[in-house]
Order: sequence, then C-alpha cells, then structure tokens
Amino acid sequence: MTIHVSAHSSATDGETPARHAEAAVESSPAVTPEQYRKAFRRHPGAVVVITLSSPSGPVGFTATSFVSLSLDPPLASFNITQVSSSIAALSAASSAIVHVLSDDQAHLAARFARDAAQRFADLSSWSLLPTGEPVLHDTRTWFRIGDLVRIPAGDSVLVIARIVAIHCETDARPSRPLVYYEGRFQAVAPIDEA
Ligand SMILES: Cc1cc2nc3c(=O)[nH]c(=O)nc-3n(C[C@H](O)[C@H](O)[C@H](O)COP(=O)(O)O)c2cc1C
Repeated sequence: MTIHVSAHSSATDGETPARHAEAAVESSPAVTPEQYRKAFRRHPGAVVVITLSSPSGPVGFTATSFVSLSLDPPLASFNITQVSSSIAALSAASSAIVHVLSDDQAHLAARFARDAAQRFADLSSWSLLPTGEPVLHDTRTWFRIGDLVRIPAGDSVLVIARIVAIHCETDARPSRPLVYYEGRFQAVAPIDEA
C-alpha cells in the first residue's frame, strides 16, 4: 500500500519537503507487527474502562485508545478491535460509560482486560445508573457518552461519541492517573521544573 503525501508547495524543482516525505514513505519497507508493537510500547496511554449495557447483561473492557476530540460540540473517540467480545454490544449500544482510572485501580484495568465472564462478578463493585449503564464504584472521573458513530478502520472500529454527562469528583483524595507504558501499568510522577 502506498501512502500519498499531498504536495502543498508550488515549487517545481522536485526537491520540496513534501516530495522528500513522499519518497520516504513510498520507499520504506512494510511495517511489521513487531515494529508497530515495539514503537507503541513507548507511547504511554491513559487507562480507562468502558462499560455498557446489553440484552445479556453488563459489558466492559479496558482501553487506552480513549482521547478527547472536540470541545464544541464535546466529542471523544476510542477504538475497539473487531474480535473483542464487547463488539456486538457496542455495535448495538446507544450510550456507554468511560471511567478514567487512578493509579490505585490497576486491579480494575487487569480485570476488564481478562476473562469477560469475571468482569462484573463482584456485584458490590458496580451498579446500574438510572440511565441503564453499569458504573464502577469509587471512580472519581467518568464520562457518559452517546450518539455513537462507528467507523471501521483496519482490524478495529473507531468510535466517535458525544460526551453527554461528566462525573468529576473534587474530593481531598489525591488522584494520579493510571497509564500503560512498556507493557506495564504505571503511575506518573511530576517533573521538577527548574
Ligand atoms: C492497557 C490495555 C489497553 C487496551 N486498550 C484497548 C483498546 O483501546 N481497544 C480494545 O479494543 N481493546 C483494548 N484492550 C484489550 C481489551 O481490554 C481486552 O483485553 C480485549 O478486547 C479482549 O477482551 P475479550 O476477551 O472481551 O475479547 C486493552 C487492554 C489493555 C491491558
């Protein structure tokens, strides 16, 4: 597959930056899954758990693909793989909850990435919102999303959604994000700026 880089320069000497970029992309060998995974291991991702309701019960999975997209209107996006056990529920859902995890919630991230049958087994750890979606207790920040638009993209589906409600606790408990980096759950530390 050739990825075309559009030439924005009107120069005609054949040596524009855009032409260099086009040549580099066209001549590069195919990206292997190993290269892709190795590079993305160095790309830290904030960890969320996405939950939704389905006719057969609550569904949810851990994700690092959730990102802000638009302030006005308020939009966000995430990806789900086509082979995910959550894909059927997500394809039919009209809303979902996106929980932003803290560094003391790695156990939740691990639970929602493993055996799907165990994800909601602890009945004391979640409840149903009046709007019908499962919400995980003790999660200080969560988004309720609706108006889901699904765009097939390679082996995944890109989901763009409107943020319709925000739960954002301002308690005294310090909250640090949970990130996934180099194949591990990690906390972040501030940098002392000189
Ligand atoms: C840190 C982390 C981030 C993940 N991010 C995503 C993601 O963005 N999208 C996705 O579909 N699966 C993601 N997964 C995988 C899912 O959480 C889940 O393990 C996978 O879909 C298999 O679930 P299944 O057994 O329900 O099919 C991630 C897993 C981990 C551990």
